[in-house]
Amino acid sequence: MSLTRKHLMILAACMGLLALTACTREITTIVQEEPQPSSCFECHDDQNTFLVGIELQWTKSRHASGEAVHEGTNASCVRCHASEGFIQYINGETPAATQTPTVIHCFTCHAPHTNSDFNLRVDTAQTLLNGVSHDIGAGNTCVVCHQSRRDVATYITASNNLSRYFGPHHGPQSDMLFGTNGYEYEGYVYEETPYHRTLTQDGCVDCHVRYVGEGYMVGGHSFAMTAELSEESGGGTVYNTQACAVCHEDIGDDYDYAGVQADIDSKLAELQALLQAEGLVDANGTSLSVQGVSADLAGAVWNFKMVGSEDRSHGVHNPDYAVGLLESSISYLNSLTPAR
Ligand code: HEC
Ligand code: HEC
Ligand code: HEC
Ligand code: HEC
Ligand code: HEC
Ligand code: HEC
Repeated sequence: MSLTRKHLMILAACMGLLALTACTREITTIVQEEPQPSSCFECHDDQNTFLVGIELQWTKSRHASGEAVHEGTNASCVRCHASEGFIQYINGETPAATQTPTVIHCFTCHAPHTNSDFNLRVDTAQTLLNGVSHDIGAGNTCVVCHQSRRDVATYITASNNLSRYFGPHHGPQSDMLFGTNGYEYEGYVYEETPYHRTLTQDGCVDCHVRYVGEGYMVGGHSFAMTAELSEESGGGTVYNTQACAVCHEDIGDDYDYAGVQADIDSKLAELQALLQAEGLVDANGTSLSVQGVSADLAGAVWNFKMVGSEDRSHGVHNPDYAVGLLESSISYLNSLTPAR
């Protein structure tokens, strides 16, 4: 027995040597053939409808429409608006300007051909500009891009020049989820609803990605919480409330849980009216070009845009923080009105 094994080993060693010395070319070929085709078919299989389903969801995603990819040419924008900038950023490189940015796509978030799996490229907690950081698992990927590019503490000063570009650029959903980077008035005690961050497993992903909804239009790789049905399909809005029902059994048909969204919307309308009266925003809620605006007034505009047009969850991301930002801004403006 042991003799046979010895013989075999010698034979194997001889063959190895032969291969190394005599057939260098063939060895190169073997290296090139890796990975074996079977590993491709783990994902690219004719019976595999799994990826096809994900591709369908993906076609519904705003990421896939790529409209904002044209914003990805500038070095300071490419990190979030183009695939290559994002990958450079998370690899610790400085994102470079490019005239030909590519849209966000599968290989932005995943590297299946490098890793042979669908793990995300980002697996560590991300830090916002003001230093606030929370580990939200798979949601860390979203935080890289969906955060304010401005730290309210340094952006708002004693005297501010407003324009339509004023405010937290764009998608400060992570700031909201983390309950930070709003303009906080002195003397007002801000509370937050931390649970959508602390009780979810993967933050954003638990609500936006985990549950695939009607016709692939919401959830999954559509990343969408709502979708509008076409006229032919009868119109109306599709919601993905199964994402909420995990924790809120009594969620109902939409996201206006406990009337919070309606409350936020009416506070936004109230704040807008006050800001319009101050000449700081117009009827569309766009901030106007005004010079030398005080910190507390500019802060009210910041909060109005942050909770409203920028976050757009109508308070859901962090109900108590959103209410606090709006309430404190409203009471500040109301304290001025009689005197002016
Ligand atoms: C872990 C899963 C996975 C494995 C394994 C895998 N692929 Fe892919 N591949 C993908 C995904 C995801 C896409 C993106 C296309 C899509 O499904 O939308 C893709 C796309 C492609 C494309 C289309 C070109 C492109 O860039 O979009 C080619 C060609 C391809 N793969 C070849 C291969 C080959 C050859 C292998 C084996 C050596 C392989 N793949 C192994 C997941 C995988
Ligand atoms: C930290 C990431 C990040 C950086 C850097 C960034 N953006 Fe964005 N931008 C986003 C996100 C995320 C959205 C989508 C937000 C949403 O839908 O809520 C967006 C949306 C936009 C939009 C569409 C706004 C709208 O109302 O539809 C424009 C235009 C834009 N960005 C321009 C730029 C420009 C120009 C730069 C560079 C000067 C830039 N962005 C840098 C993350 C970023
Ligand atoms: C913006 C980032 C992003 C992009 C772009 C993206 N994915 Fe994903 N993908 C995710 C996240 C987040 C998850 C969920 C990970 C988790 O649950 O831990 C995921 C999970 C997956 C999974 C595993 C699902 C499962 O149930 O195990 C597959 C397969 C996948 N993605 C394929 C794709 C394909 C194909 C594309 C392109 C059509 C794509 N992804 C584009 C973020 C992305
Ligand atoms: C590479 C940066 C990047 C990453 C990573 C990213 N996003 Fe986005 N996201 C954007 C940009 C840019 C837009 C706006 C796209 C446009 O309008 O063309 C956007 C749009 C969206 C929208 C649509 C908003 C609308 O107006 O309909 C949702 C929802 C969204 N992202 C959720 C997520 C979630 C959830 C994740 C994590 C799984 C994620 N995003 C990861 C950059 C990113
Ligand atoms: C508790 C569930 C939940 C979590 C966690 C969550 N979202 Fe949302 N998000 C929502 C709901 C619900 C809406 C939309 C409400 C509506 O349209 O009525 C929304 C809206 C949005 C929008 C605007 C979409 C649009 O159509 O205008 C973006 C972008 C977004 N979320 C991104 C994120 C990102 C990024 C994270 C993580 C930092 C996140 N969300 C975490 C539930 C969640
Ligand atoms: C991981 C568990 C979890 C998920 C998922 C979740 N929530 Fe919550 N949410 C909570 C907890 C816990 C509270 C605080 C207790 C309460 O008010 O029920 C809360 C509070 C709220 C509040 C404030 C209620 C109030 O009375 O002030 C709203 C609004 C809300 N959630 C909406 C949603 C929506 C919409 C979704 C789905 C898109 C969702 N939540 C998904 C756990 C969750």
